[in-house]
Amino acid sequence: MRSIVKKVKLHDMSFKIFISEEQIKGKVKEIANRINNDYIGKNPTLLVVLKGGMIFASDLVREITIGCSLDIIRAKSYGNEMESSGSVALKHFDNDFANKDIIIVEDIIDTGFTIKTLIEDIQKQNPASLEVASILSKPEARTVKVDVKYTGFEIPKYFVVGYGLDYAEYGRELKDIYILDE
Ligand code: IMP
Ligand code: MG
Repeated sequence: MRSIVKKVKLHDMSFKIFISEEQIKGKVKEIANRINNDYIGKNPTLLVVLKGGMIFASDLVREITIGCSLDIIRAKSYGNEMESSGSVALKHFDNDFANKDIIIVEDIIDTGFTIKTLIEDIQKQNPASLEVASILSKPEARTVKVDVKYTGFEIPKYFVVGYGLDYAEYGRELKDIYILDE
């Protein structure tokens, strides 16, 4: 029997399924359970990194049972559509991180430059604690060292879309995660 591989076309590029919605759901629950245990008696602030982190954050927050708050920040990395550039612009929204237990919620850690920039920025306001949750990570792509406490899936240096991640702003709404179909 021939299995049917889910495919999608975004702009000029074709993508095929890599991580399914079911696998993602399971992983989000695992991460939420760890947070529920690690932050007993606290009220952590999930800091959603727009735009990519919004889908993961919206699923994660609904699996958290200990009580938490939400905040947003935007990190825009400039460069071509498939590679990180090493230049990140942050946009704040009257954020107040002082004395709070902050968990940064990201879509993917690639070179690590974006998350390093965010961590350094947030540390300036003296949060009570600061950790990172990312649904995806590409360890082989790392050029700066960063500590990511909650990682969903470690993947090779593939370009991926879906579940918040885009190719030139397309594909963020996809429920599964896709890779290039070459
Ligand atoms: P870093 O600064 O190199 O770690 O890149 C982080 C940002 O680059 C992420 O928040 C994404 O917006 C984007 N990015 C990195 N890898 C991918 C990918 O495979 N697909 C889509 N966006 C990506
Ligand atoms: Mg992006």
